[in-house]
Amino acid sequence: MDSMIRDIQLAPSGQLKIDWVEQHMPILSQLKREFSERKPLAGKKAVICLHLEAKTAYLALTVQAAGAEVAVCASNPLSTQDDVVAALVQNGVTAFARYGASDEEYKLHLNKALDFDPDILIDDGGDLVSLLHSERKEQAQKIIGGAEETTTGILRLRALAREGLLQFPMMAVNDAQMKYLFDNRYGTGQSVWDAIMRTTNLVVCGKVVVVGGYGWCGKGVAARASGLNARVVVTEIDPIKANEALMDGYEVMPMIEAAKIGDIFITVTGNRDIVRKEHFEVIKDKAILSNAGHFDVEVNKEDLKELSTSVKVVRNNIEEYTFADGRKVYLLGEGRLVNLAAGDGHPAEVMDLTFALQALSLEYLINERDNLRAEVYSVPEEIDRKVATLRLGALGIEVDELTEKQKQYLSSWQE
Ligand SMILES: NC(=O)c1ccc[n+]([C@@H]2O[C@H](COP(=O)([O-])OP(=O)(O)OC[C@H]3O[C@@H](n4cnc5c(N)ncnc54)[C@H](O)[C@@H]3O)[C@@H](O)[C@H]2O)c1
Repeated sequence: MDSMIRDIQLAPSGQLKIDWVEQHMPILSQLKREFSERKPLAGKKAVICLHLEAKTAYLALTVQAAGAEVAVCASNPLSTQDDVVAALVQNGVTAFARYGASDEEYKLHLNKALDFDPDILIDDGGDLVSLLHSERKEQAQKIIGGAEETTTGILRLRALAREGLLQFPMMAVNDAQMKYLFDNRYGTGQSVWDAIMRTTNLVVCGKVVVVGGYGWCGKGVAARASGLNARVVVTEIDPIKANEALMDGYEVMPMIEAAKIGDIFITVTGNRDIVRKEHFEVIKDKAILSNAGHFDVEVNKEDLKELSTSVKVVRNNIEEYTFADGRKVYLLGEGRLVNLAAGDGHPAEVMDLTFALQALSLEYLINERDNLRAEVYSVPEEIDRKVATLRLGALGIEVDELTEKQKQYLSSWQE
């Protein structure tokens, strides 16, 4: 199939980006070497729907090295890096993606990727799987299985499974410990701040940072804000998480109160309308609004438009909304995942863990295909531990082993 991309001439710059991350993804490199010999995905077609930047490209090349024919499409039109996509095509991967694709183009790209006729897939947020369970139901029958990258996608998968509608096995990669403990917490924590700082070129210390949602991502975003000497306010709906935020040293209050004092807002809940009309009505002048949750529904853009007398782009990735009373707010990256829409996403060393889990999950799906049903599966503990062990090995770090006496002690009820 022919690729649909911006410009193949961009490939050299994309290749440099891929070469850079390769140097910092030792686990995936090791798997790529192993896979090149064993070819565990030989003869299979894989579609990868992820943020199309260099780390994802290296995953696609690893899956290709495992013997699969690979096609990629974007999980978000604003995170696609056209040069990286061009480099992938030059490496023999089929690609359907372009930075800034319209909603129609984005959907066309997803459909084109499914026309590639995959046996296995990787999804991020559930758009591909959703299509296979609505407009392309007949194709779902022949999918061996897939792996889901993020919290929001897994919520959708569980909803499908609950209604008995899921058509093939899906691995919940997000729920592996080596994923959420590092990718969601430290990856999002660091890359969100990298994106906000490079986009605004404004100071963070001394400002009031409001973090909407204190899950794995929220904890990372709040910790990094605190490390930058911001005053951190957390909003939550879960009383347990709210207590956790308090004991971690942050202020907790409802968004309606936080809106009045916040300078920088980051929503990361996986839910919708976290900052909406009633909050905009009281929000502090010149507040910066950003979102790191999967979909661009956490900051309500319709409400923003309705309340604004003018909207203009004032800097790359910053839209200024002016309200009737003259107050202004600044929305970063159109309210899409700020770390990807206005940055390069998670650090390579973090994505090395997540993508090692993805690659091993695809191999698991093929090896276990006869034993798996149309359900949402946890990544097996052996895979989680293998990735943890490979990382320590790559860092040259050793850990202790249990002695026989310790094993006995831990398994006995008498001492
Ligand atoms: N930006 C990235 O690179 C990145 C990386 C990983 C995950 N994600 C996405 O980030 C989102 C959060 O992921 P997570 O792993 O932290 O999920 P999580 O389930 O661990 O945390 C979400 C938190 O939001 C809270 N919440 C829900 N509704 C709320 C509301 N109305 N107000 C305040 N808090 C509310 C929940 O109680 C929970 O504590 C998801 O959409 C996920 O897909 C983004």
